[in-house]
Amino acid sequence: MTRSPNVTIFADKAAACRSLAAELAKLIRETNATGRSVVLGLATGSTPIPLYQELIRLHSEEGLSFSQVITFNLDEYLGLERQHPESYWTFMHRQLFDHVDIPAENIHIPSGTVGDVAAHCAEYEAAIEAAGGIDFQLLGIGRTGHIGFNEPGSPRDSRTRRIELDPVTREDAAPAFGGLDKVPTHAITMGCGTILAARRIGLLAFGAHKAAIVREAIEGPVTDQVSASFLQDHPDACFYLDRAAAGQL
Ligand code: PGA
Repeated sequence: MTRSPNVTIFADKAAACRSLAAELAKLIRETNATGRSVVLGLATGSTPIPLYQELIRLHSEEGLSFSQVITFNLDEYLGLERQHPESYWTFMHRQLFDHVDIPAENIHIPSGTVGDVAAHCAEYEAAIEAAGGIDFQLLGIGRTGHIGFNEPGSPRDSRTRRIELDPVTREDAAPAFGGLDKVPTHAITMGCGTILAARRIGLLAFGAHKAAIVREAIEGPVTDQVSASFLQDHPDACFYLDRAAAGQL
């Protein structure tokens, strides 16, 4: 049976990010109060930046501690050194990790330069399991409907692996890289199955350019051609949208 994901439409992205940040702060505080670390799956891209800014504010102004937070990022470009300005390692440190008290050893991001990719992906899956699984997985959505870098054709039960980036995804990344020829052709991504194993999932989407793919993900058929559509079958998945992204629902 298909179950529709929970959809919340906010006045704007700032309101959506304030709401999700408050939810995450509550999850962190409540889980830590039981003596357990909280495991967050994190995302890159322009979409979550205001969320990370709000989490940093909660840390600096309201004492929210990340000392017992363990993180796993969704993906990384293959071929980029950590220090590359467009690596997701650089992104996460600039946008969040450098500004909160998370211990370095609690941070997990796939390596873009590892020799044995298959072994690295298996270790990543094992590390998620050893941490107790993901409590909350944050997602954006690409124009191809990807979550992580699960491009069209990614099976529902796929796990962390090497993937070839869709031409649309590479085109969207080209301005940041200063040209299409500089955008990596491949990445490592958590699989759809890895993501769907999270206990709660929150997908953020803002802006009219996301409206068509958001409608497909929420109201279209569940299909591996739109990996975000798999969220329809998750028992606790929520879409956090602004009015523009919800404009075609
Ligand atoms: P964006 O990317 O947040 O930069 O729009 C989303 C994605 O590709 O998942």
